[in-house]
Amino acid sequence: MCSRILITSGPTIEPIDPVRFLSNRSSGQTGFHLAAEAGRRRLGPVTFITGPTVFLPDDVELIQVESAQEMRAAVNEHFPASDVTIMAAAVSDYRSLKYYPEKLKKRGERLTLELAKNPDILLELGRAKRRGQTLVGFAAETEDIFANAQRKLEAKNLDLLVLNEISAENPAFGMVENQVYLVSADGVRKLEKMSKALVAARVWDEILALRGRNG
Ligand code: CTP
Repeated sequence: MCSRILITSGPTIEPIDPVRFLSNRSSGQTGFHLAAEAGRRRLGPVTFITGPTVFLPDDVELIQVESAQEMRAAVNEHFPASDVTIMAAAVSDYRSLKYYPEKLKKRGERLTLELAKNPDILLELGRAKRRGQTLVGFAAETEDIFANAQRKLEAKNLDLLVLNEISAENPAFGMVENQVYLVSADGVRKLEKMSKALVAARVWDEILALRGRNG
């Protein structure tokens, strides 16, 4: 049904020195299940661009990257040919301003590390999106979740936003189960807490429905 699919997954890691990096708690399970479900449904060839994770799907064009800047370069190369793009990766918002080529030695009681903002890959894709391309983003929010989701849907020109409410009851990151909301121009739909494999199936149901409606 869709010809070409691009999925990003996992965390990015931002090097500080040869042995240290900044990253986040993303396990890569959601992206993995989105690719596996696309394969089961035979939706089309999948390009899978991922940060470091053990969750690597079969039967995809696999591109492994580390930093946000590497992910951006790989995504920009494959986005123009993609019909459905799903940015499930937890891209680090900031990187160390400086890469220290020698291992940082411990010195004083405090160390200040200056960070530089990473490019927002999804925002750039939203600006470059053409007719017929479907763009799906994720959001992790802890407060004003629906207002923030609506703002991201519009600002990033998304067709669908998968909204995670991060709380003690639903940590989401690294867990097998997740409770999400599907946010689109049609409104907000709450899904029950379910396995990430089932979340992936429901996300694909929604993408195919949206693409069906938009011709
Ligand atoms: N994303 C991206 N590039 C970044 C940061 C995020 O492409 N530098 C994408 C993620 O893949 C995800 C979406 O943007 O699909 C939402 O990320 P999130 O961290 O929830 O929100 P941000 O837009 O980064 O905003 P904020 O951190 O202020 O909530």
